[in-house]
Formats: sequence, C-alpha cells, structure tokens
Amino acid sequence: MRPRRIVHLAGAQLEVHSPWPHDQSSPIKIATRCARRHGLSGRVQFRLQDANDLSNENEFDCVWVIECSEHLFDKAGFISHAAAALRPGGVLALCAWLRADGPLGNSGRLLIDRVCRGMLCPSLGTKSEYCKWITAAGLSIRTADDITAAVSKTWHLGRKIVQKPIVQKILMTAESETVAFVNSFNDMAEAYSGGVMSYGMFAAVKERPRDE
Ligand SMILES: C[S@@+](CC[C@H](N)C(=O)[O-])C[C@H]1O[C@@H](n2cnc3c(N)ncnc32)[C@H](O)[C@@H]1O
Repeated sequence: MRPRRIVHLAGAQLEVHSPWPHDQSSPIKIATRCARRHGLSGRVQFRLQDANDLSNENEFDCVWVIECSEHLFDKAGFISHAAAALRPGGVLALCAWLRADGPLGNSGRLLIDRVCRGMLCPSLGTKSEYCKWITAAGLSIRTADDITAAVSKTWHLGRKIVQKPIVQKILMTAESETVAFVNSFNDMAEAYSGGVMSYGMFAAVKERPRDE
C-alpha cells in the first residue's frame, strides 16, 4: 500500500506542547525535535505557511483543519483550495467554531462580535454555510456534527485557570492582545452555553471519478 499523505493546517500550538519548558526556539525546530524523538524523522515535514496560500493540487489523502478557518477572511475560498489539495478519495476533516444558524438578537450579535475581536476571527460561519462551502468545493459531506457538548468545558476550565493568583499576576503586565484574549474566555463560555455559538465537526470526501 502506498504511504498516505496527510496535511494538518494551522497545526498545534507547539510552544504549549513542547516537552522542553521555556524553549524559545522556533515552533518548526521544536516540532522537528519532537518528531525525531518519536522516531518520525523523514516521515513528517513542518512548514510555516499562511493557510490562505494553500495551492497544492491532488496531493493529499487527508486535509485536516482544527480551528483555523475561523481566523480566515475567505472561508469559502480556503475550503475550495483544501478540496483541490485532496487526491480523489481523499478526506477533508475540519473542526470550527460556528455562529448559530438563523437570526441572532442584539445581545447575541454583540457577544459574537466580542468573541471575534478577542479571538482574532474576522467572522464565524454557520453550520449551513460550512456545508454549502464544502459542497460548492465539490466534496460529499459524510458528517456535519455539532460536538459543542464535548468541547465547551474547555472555556469553563479556562475561566477557572485565569482566576488563579499567579495568572492574575502575569496578566498585570501582559500585552493588551493577551488580556483581550483571556477576557474573551467568559464570552466563549457564555456563547456556547447560550447556544449563540456551537462547535462543528465536518468530514467530507472527494469522490473518485466513476470510471476509476
Ligand atoms: C485556535 S488555534 C488552534 C490550534 C490547533 N489547530 C489546535 O487545535 O490546537 C488557531 C491556530 O490557527 C493559526 N492560524 C491563524 N491564522 C492562520 C493562517 N492564516 N494560516 C495558518 N495558520 C493560521 C494560529 O496560528 C493558531 O495556531
């Protein structure tokens, strides 16, 4: 069987996952070292690249995107490039923060605006928008699940961590973007619990041509 090729866009927050505390090296170096440690040298490559510039064609068996499209302006264009990067039979696996389908009241809209500002997202798509973009990219949707219940706890835990005296102390001298980011944990928790936001998990296939 030929080796499978998977691309993980907007990979991990590698500083956080580094087994070497206080490691100031670049994320690429840290990732390369981690891969070596796990015996994966030569089987993985790490690149620093803007997901907006994805231009591969028919190359990957899986395009895997966890919480990246929220940060992009042109989500439909990104999904279309992700589809083009797949080989026939390949799978797009995408998780994203979603805005609730249907109209929102004033307070809901303001809450989403605050989340987007704090979390550096130009906008959030709805579940039906993602389904429309995936289908328009020529992929067949296999699952489009709402997994909010499985992930929303993160933000309640985040809120608790922020209350710790040591974190409060760090925040006193943190940059304003960091403070805005941390302040939006409350908004994330509220948006999920109030149904203004949800968490979507999508899997879609690039069908093989019929005569293949
Ligand atoms: C919410 S984090 C998710 C990180 C990771 N996927 C995970 O699940 O732990 C969003 C990630 O998207 C990345 N990101 C934002 N805009 C991007 C872009 N234009 N191209 C590539 N990555 C981007 C950020 O650097 C950040 O690591």
